[in-house]
Amino acid sequence: MGPSGLLVALALHLAVCSRPHRDYCVLGAGPAGLQMAAFLHRAGRDYEVFERESAPGSFFTRYPRHRKLISINKRHTGKANAEFNLRHDWNSLLSDDPHLLFRHYSQAYFPDASDMVRYLGDFARRLGLHVLYNTNITHVTLDKDPQAWNGHYFILTDQKGQVYQCSVLLVATGLAVPKLVDFPGSEYVEGYESVSVDPEDFVGQNVLILGHGNSAFETAENILGVTNFVHMLSRSRVRLSWATHYVGDVRAINNGLLDTYQLKSLDGLLESDLEYLALVKDSKGKFHVTLKFLLENNSSQSADSIPLPEDDNDNFAMRVAYDRVIRCLGWTFDFSIFDQSLRLSSGTEFSKKYPLIKASYESKGSRGLFILGTASHSVDYRKSAGGFIHGFRYTVRAVHRLLEHRHHGIPWPSTEYPITQLTSSIIRRVNEASGLYQMFSVLADIILLKEHQLLPHFPSSWNTLAPSMLSG
Ligand SMILES: *[C@@H]1O[C@H](CO)[C@@H](O)[C@H](O)[C@H]1NC(C)=O
Ligand SMILES: *[C@@H]1O[C@H](CO)[C@@H](O)[C@H](O)[C@H]1NC(C)=O
Repeated sequence: MGPSGLLVALALHLAVCSRPHRDYCVLGAGPAGLQMAAFLHRAGRDYEVFERESAPGSFFTRYPRHRKLISINKRHTGKANAEFNLRHDWNSLLSDDPHLLFRHYSQAYFPDASDMVRYLGDFARRLGLHVLYNTNITHVTLDKDPQAWNGHYFILTDQKGQVYQCSVLLVATGLAVPKLVDFPGSEYVEGYESVSVDPEDFVGQNVLILGHGNSAFETAENILGVTNFVHMLSRSRVRLSWATHYVGDVRAINNGLLDTYQLKSLDGLLESDLEYLALVKDSKGKFHVTLKFLLENNSSQSADSIPLPEDDNDNFAMRVAYDRVIRCLGWTFDFSIFDQSLRLSSGTEFSKKYPLIKASYESKGSRGLFILGTASHSVDYRKSAGGFIHGFRYTVRAVHRLLEHRHHGIPWPSTEYPITQLTSSIIRRVNEASGLYQMFSVLADIILLKEHQLLPHFPSSWNTLAPSMLSG
């Protein structure tokens, strides 16, 4: 090796050794990332949040498209107990600062999304959280090192090629990749993320919406007064949150189309598997829905003689032509920045849009990689509120407590009471605790009774993870 070779080797060595190190790296300054940052900050940990946009909560600058959040902002409960009041506050993050309650940011019961953006900006600023804005982490990989807390470091590279090294990686990037459709003619389909939200653009039109969730109903609600009719199509039945008790199902605030459908208006709901569909454009620029196999049988298809599915009575509901077709199918997790060595894979069926994680929110593939926030909802999908702010603020806290214990030897918070106060302590928790209330069937308190001393050891404020997980 000549002198120049030596210099190159030295430079490389320096580059590797001088890459900035953080014990905790958080990806994304949305609600979950900021919530974790607030806990790390309060505990005095070495951390950094990486955010590709120039301010927190960028998802809420664009979504929901019609700007009305469906998370309730209940400002009055008639009670002064702050813990109890969080049971009815679906938007605030957890902090010690009473100014940082969402009730100070909006008077609306269903607030405007831009108030959430303003709230998250204030949350990061007031608490002095360490966020690197305009830093787009485009690649994450592993570097094995026996000295590292987890046997490896996470190596992050941003858009400028700057490299960072982290002992623990907390991924709070949400679900931000629109779920697409792929069938013949799917290129004619407009997406929820970019379709016009001006009702004037839909006057006198026939509209087909793909999807049966809140974004689909929100889109329908906005235009159903000016269209000829709106049809909604998806694989599964519509599920109403007032019937299922699941906050992610269609909420009463969005179900105007169900009203008009049930009252025999022209609007309608249809069920079909989207993967069997095909869309054909006729000479007038209108769209016809048919089935893929009907097209596949005939290659000499002219757009104006489209074979339609028929039944005995020939009343195929979608015989009409549509002026536009809109896809509102939700989002999936962005797996693309994670190197294969991290073994971050998706689940199957319902959890396909989520990364696979354990009950502790740690990735099944890499120790020290945790998924926080909306993308962690596979743990309690369709069961509890872990996909939403009012749920994941508590599961983020649980992950933080787990890390405090694992890496800093700090035990899970608890309080001791004399046995005589056991019943009243339990009743108080049942009447007040917000984390257990929002994350029912996921978080729990554990009561340990000390032998001989008649002193129950009672975990305080404190939701622990489900007992099965702790004992396992
Ligand atoms: C961040 O990088 C990804 C590519 O990895 C790119 O698609 C995206 O637009 C970038 N976002 C910003 C805000 O720079
Ligand atoms: C195929 O399409 C052409 C033109 O649309 C039509 O005339 C013909 O009957 C079709 N053949 C079959 C087998 O469906």
